[in-house]
Amino acid sequence: MANVLVERAGTDVVLLRLNRPEARNALSPELREELRDLFLALDRDESCRAIVITGDMRAFAAGADIKAMAEATPAEMMERDDETNWAAIRNCRKPVIAAVNGYALGGGCELAMHCDIIIAGKSARFGQPEVKLGIMPGAGGTQRLTRAIGKFRAMQLLLTGDFLSAEEAHVAGLVSSVSEDDAVVGDALALAARIAALPPLAVEEIKRVVLTGMDMPLEAALKLEMRSAYLLFGTADKGEAMRAFVEKRPAVFTGK
Ligand code: CAA
Repeated sequence: MANVLVERAGTDVVLLRLNRPEARNALSPELREELRDLFLALDRDESCRAIVITGDMRAFAAGADIKAMAEATPAEMMERDDETNWAAIRNCRKPVIAAVNGYALGGGCELAMHCDIIIAGKSARFGQPEVKLGIMPGAGGTQRLTRAIGKFRAMQLLLTGDFLSAEEAHVAGLVSSVSEDDAVVGDALALAARIAALPPLAVEEIKRVVLTGMDMPLEAALKLEMRSAYLLFGTADKGEAMRAFVEKRPAVFTGK
């Protein structure tokens, strides 16, 4: 059975459901490879304009598969080449929304943090409990969490393995918005559909500049932003959007 289920939601939104409910959607090597291949394919798929990734009501993902790691040596971990798996998600040009119910722990929290927007159900729990297993986050947990919520809150979570509730994660800045548990996927799909209806080149460029600029000195990032903003003036969708505004009619975007 597939470790990740793929559903089309409307014409241009793709919903990916992690499908290892018996293991709280733990990210086995096989699941990660499926996810990598899906992201590589969706990145190239012009009919896909936004991606939602979710788990089930009990878990978004409870982290790396501990059973598949229990006896692993450093060399075996290196051979798994997880970096390539994560890079496929990180480098995806389409907007990616995490719809989180239940536990998002360890690699599961890191997976959510690879996404652009995180919508959490009220009962969701976020954490990096690796320290309790004698290891540490290896897919951005120490860095993305710190950038998202600041050194002192991140240190507290990373050094204790404690969990944040959805509301705490929202207040801390780890979560974009909180929904009723049973509304999370619907809300994420509705948001994805709204973004998918916007000019795709503008959406792609905004995502690229936010992510690239975050790691640059401000002056350089501002220059990058300005160049990208000017570049979008060359798109057909910019012309259509501005003409439609002036003519007081809905715009029809082509993605060009
Ligand atoms: N890996 C493998 N199996 C897991 C798992 C994981 N990360 N999390 C849960 N499972 C399995 C359990 O072993 C159990 O399987 P069996 O029925 O065969 O015993 C099943 O899922 C249900 O789990 P629980 O009975 O524990 O369910 P619960 O609802 O009582 O608790 C939980 C849920 C709080 C998520 C708990 O399972 C838990 O603490 N899981 C581990 C979380 C964790 O430590 N994650 C970090 C992993 S390391 C990592 O992610 C590092 C990295 O990226 C490099």
